[in-house]
Amino acid sequence: METRNCLQFLTSLSLTLLCYLLHFSAADFTPADNYLLNCGSTTTNASFYNRVFHADGSSTTKSDSLSTTTGSISLKNPNPSQDSPALYNTARVFTGGGDSIYRFHIRRNGTHLVRFHFSPFVSQDFNLNSAKFSVFVGEFLVLGDFSTQVVVVKEFVVKVEIDVLEIMFRPVNGSGFGFVNAIEVFSAPNDFIIDDGARFITASGATEEYTNLSSRVLEVIHRINVGGLNLTPFNDTLWRTWIPDEDFLVFKYTAKRVVTTDTPNYQKGGSTREIAPDNVYMTAQEMNRENATIGARFNITWDFPVVSGGARHLVRLHFCDIVSSSLYQLYFNVYINDYSAYKNLDLSTMTIRPMLSSPWYIDFVVDSDDSGVMRISVGPSDWSTPLKMNAILNGVEIMKMVHVTGSKTGKKKKRVWILVVSVVGGFIILCLAVLVVLLSFKCKKKKPKPRPAESVG
Ligand SMILES: *[C@@H]1O[C@H](CO)[C@@H](O)[C@H](O)[C@H]1NC(C)=O
Ligand SMILES: *[C@@H]1O[C@H](CO)[C@@H](O)[C@H](O)[C@H]1NC(C)=O
Ligand SMILES: *[C@@H]1O[C@H](CO)[C@@H](O)[C@H](O)[C@H]1NC(C)=O
Ligand SMILES: *[C@@H]1O[C@H](CO)[C@@H](O)[C@H](O)[C@H]1NC(C)=O
Ligand SMILES: *[C@@H]1O[C@H](CO)[C@@H](O)[C@H](O)[C@H]1NC(C)=O
Ligand SMILES: *[C@@H]1O[C@H](CO)[C@@H](O)[C@H](O)[C@H]1NC(C)=O
Ligand SMILES: *[C@@H]1O[C@H](CO)[C@@H](O)[C@H](O)[C@H]1NC(C)=O
Repeated sequence: METRNCLQFLTSLSLTLLCYLLHFSAADFTPADNYLLNCGSTTTNASFYNRVFHADGSSTTKSDSLSTTTGSISLKNPNPSQDSPALYNTARVFTGGGDSIYRFHIRRNGTHLVRFHFSPFVSQDFNLNSAKFSVFVGEFLVLGDFSTQVVVVKEFVVKVEIDVLEIMFRPVNGSGFGFVNAIEVFSAPNDFIIDDGARFITASGATEEYTNLSSRVLEVIHRINVGGLNLTPFNDTLWRTWIPDEDFLVFKYTAKRVVTTDTPNYQKGGSTREIAPDNVYMTAQEMNRENATIGARFNITWDFPVVSGGARHLVRLHFCDIVSSSLYQLYFNVYINDYSAYKNLDLSTMTIRPMLSSPWYIDFVVDSDDSGVMRISVGPSDWSTPLKMNAILNGVEIMKMVHVTGSKTGKKKKRVWILVVSVVGGFIILCLAVLVVLLSFKCKKKKPKPRPAESVG
């Protein structure tokens, strides 16, 4: 009798827990693959914007490792500053002149986000400011001869279609060394990069369809919340950082900030909360028509620094009509590098149901010119009536395409440090196993609803 009561109690407890988990995963994006490593730490899990980064040298994460040899060192910052997050107070240093490889088991093929956190500090044996190294993600050289004197996060978008993703660190030459403070590898939503609909703006200014966008490796260069505030990983569905646009405006007086308090109407055919969070679509810059001296027709123009000389970029522009009082009033043109990119853009017709405040985005593929900037302008269309003349922009992302290199093959197999990371924390597996057992007891009486497999694993 006693055990039966206990079982009933446990069953209801686990059901409550499962409901909570399911509710939680419905409200928030839960990546199928989700690796967060606190590099150079042997014991400490570090919390960073509410996410726990696991020690890359701990016994739990090493439980699946193939082998560990010399060639890497766990380094602790001897003099951490008070506002420095714990995640940045340790680093793994790659020495020995050889390659060091992290291996990640991939549970679901598709686009992944890969972030590297670098926070150089000085210890007795190493000055991380003088590190110089290259980083490969799979076959792609993503950082070549990299060094940094400031805290920086490098983010890449990579399509992964292999069982094990290898991330390799290679010091620049025999005497050099490399380092990293933290690594994130996690699944992006399915529709994060799609192959349909990207427009390639050629050197002659013509637009044509760009195919195979999803198979390109992309490096995030700019992520801008136009008309808005700084957004931290706290405020973003995929833990991204967005910065305001003001510093990129060519003529500040041409633009006027707009802010709404209404949450966006996400719709089929438009954007999603994972493509960009609410905050991006709830602010914009519009034409500042209050200044009589600049006339009625003018563009708002932003210049974003990029590498010059033909580097190929993905330019993703985010729009949401938070300025109109009714549909079919706002028509405007979009220009990239002074070429027409989209004429007579009518946000009212972009999603399945015509509705104001419906987020929408569009991808352009553009080669950089020799100016060293990506110039983006929005301005009035010929369709606008004089009273309703306006143009808006809510968000900008600029990503550089990384090209395939052959340099990874034929590498010397010297001292390779290998770390295989376990798929999920053992604790979670244990919990779910217990839940499954308890549920199967319950199932004999009452059939539960089918559960989405991906949130359980
Ligand atoms: C991913 O794709 C590769 C190549 O098509 C395949 O070998 C692998 O089994 C796939 N992995 C998963 C988890 O589906
Ligand atoms: C390593 O590379 C740096 C610059 O890339 C160079 O100055 C230095 O001489 C090189 N060292 C060796 C041992 O090759
Ligand atoms: C582009 O995609 C098509 C079809 O998916 C494929 O056949 C082709 O090899 C791809 N091209 C490149 C350059 O990846
Ligand atoms: C971002 O998140 C922080 C912490 O939750 C919050 O204080 C801040 O107001 C948020 N910012 C925006 C723009 O929502
Ligand atoms: C109005 O526009 C002129 C440029 O034509 C600019 O110099 C001036 O600062 C603007 N005034 C305001 C109040 O923005
Ligand atoms: C806006 O910029 C484009 C590209 O430089 C230019 O062709 C167009 O004339 C400008 N529009 C206005 C109203 O200045
Ligand atoms: C770190 O996280 C792992 C995986 O969730 C866990 O097993 C371990 O106990 C944690 N370590 C500490 C010191 O909290």
